[in-house]
Amino acid sequence: MKLAIIGTGYVGLVSGACFSEFGHEVICVDNNGDKIAALCQGQIPIYEPGLTELVVKNVTGGRLRFTTNLAEAVPRAEAVFIAVGTPSSRRGDGYADLSYIYSAARDIAPHISGYTVVVDKSTVPVGTARQVARVIREVNPAAEFDVASNPEFLREGAAINDFMRPDRVVVGVDNDRAAAVLRGIYSPLYLIETPVVITTPETAELIKYAANAFLAVKISYINEMATICEAVGADGIALAKGIGLDGRIGKKFLHPGPGYGGSCFPKDTLALLRTVQEYGVSARIVEAAVEVNAAQKARMVKKIRDALGGSETGKTIGVLGLTFKPETDDMRDAPALTILPALIEKGARIVAHDPQGMREAAKYLPEGVEFVDNPYAVCAGADALVLMTEWNQYRALDLGRIKSGMRNSVFIDLRNVYAPEQVRSAGFSYFGVGRG
Ligand code: UGA
Repeated sequence: MKLAIIGTGYVGLVSGACFSEFGHEVICVDNNGDKIAALCQGQIPIYEPGLTELVVKNVTGGRLRFTTNLAEAVPRAEAVFIAVGTPSSRRGDGYADLSYIYSAARDIAPHISGYTVVVDKSTVPVGTARQVARVIREVNPAAEFDVASNPEFLREGAAINDFMRPDRVVVGVDNDRAAAVLRGIYSPLYLIETPVVITTPETAELIKYAANAFLAVKISYINEMATICEAVGADGIALAKGIGLDGRIGKKFLHPGPGYGGSCFPKDTLALLRTVQEYGVSARIVEAAVEVNAAQKARMVKKIRDALGGSETGKTIGVLGLTFKPETDDMRDAPALTILPALIEKGARIVAHDPQGMREAAKYLPEGVEFVDNPYAVCAGADALVLMTEWNQYRALDLGRIKSGMRNSVFIDLRNVYAPEQVRSAGFSYFGVGRG
């Protein structure tokens, strides 16, 4: 099938590459000429494992193209996916900023030719599909189109696998004609028996928020349990296992840590809270998850301070990992951006390493943070080592080598990567999350 994807950000680029891998003919459009020029050269602006190879393969195979010109992409397309950004609005009130969505709808409208399904792939609040339809109708009353909602459930770092082997595909449509187009697009998943949930646009839009909010709740729940474990002297890891093996609970997303971050959970939970407020209902469990997440980050600052003997002033802290999770260079809402500035404000010196995120991190962290290109270099003269993000390369560190470079042997493992006894027997004081 012939598809157009508007927006070559994370979602647009991964979707475009994967749809072309399915065998569809895809044209990705972005109004950023430099970005398109780079993409045409095979340069991918984000770090996502496997994406460069997939783009190059499908460009070479003639199934994937990039352009700034909507007139080249939209008229021929059976479906046009809108995958532009929906950042939190600049007013800071939690609302998602939909201006990019509506301007994409306005720009697409005049180019629609023949029956076309315009698909919202970006995460958008309930009611957006109807608004997009209204905008298109205003600009081009003659256009023959439907608007569908088709939220994505990709995890950064695992996006290609999530796209190619999803747990489910959610499609929100008003009629069978649009449903048939979407079914056709996802028919390559038929062989792996991927369930397709066909529902209304409003329900599809809400499914996305409900899924992310549920996962955020699950993380905040286990983080709260971890705090209780620390208080009563129980083991949070064993607790997570003990409850997660109950099939009704499930063991995924039960890892205590420094709080969830990234471009989705923080933004989407707030946007959901704004939506419920608007409709005069409440989402108190989601509200609590947001509060617990903020408290978790603050608790990590206190954990580090306590491990340093009560004060971080004048201390050197080595930090391993800055991104909100491994296998990405994304720093959006990373816990490091809350925790490290709080320590720096109290006079701590920070020396940090991240395999992919240092360039991004340097933009958002206070001046004075020192970046080193070797994980062992963060330890030189350090009073404590903080493992902030569980990159694979931090999972089997030479503890003897780390210790020999440090001033004080304090190991604060905010992702519970190491077994406490292993680190303690190497001569460190060890502090995890949810355990001693
Ligand atoms: C999340 C969802 O997992 C995807 O399904 C969804 O499509 C995506 O948001 C989105 O809305 O676009 P992502 O933000 O890439 O994906 O990352 P996750 O792997 O979900 O992790 C989010 C945060 O939760 C990270 O900071 C991670 O460290 C934290 N986390 C996750 C925990 O602290 N504990 C856990 O057990 C799991």
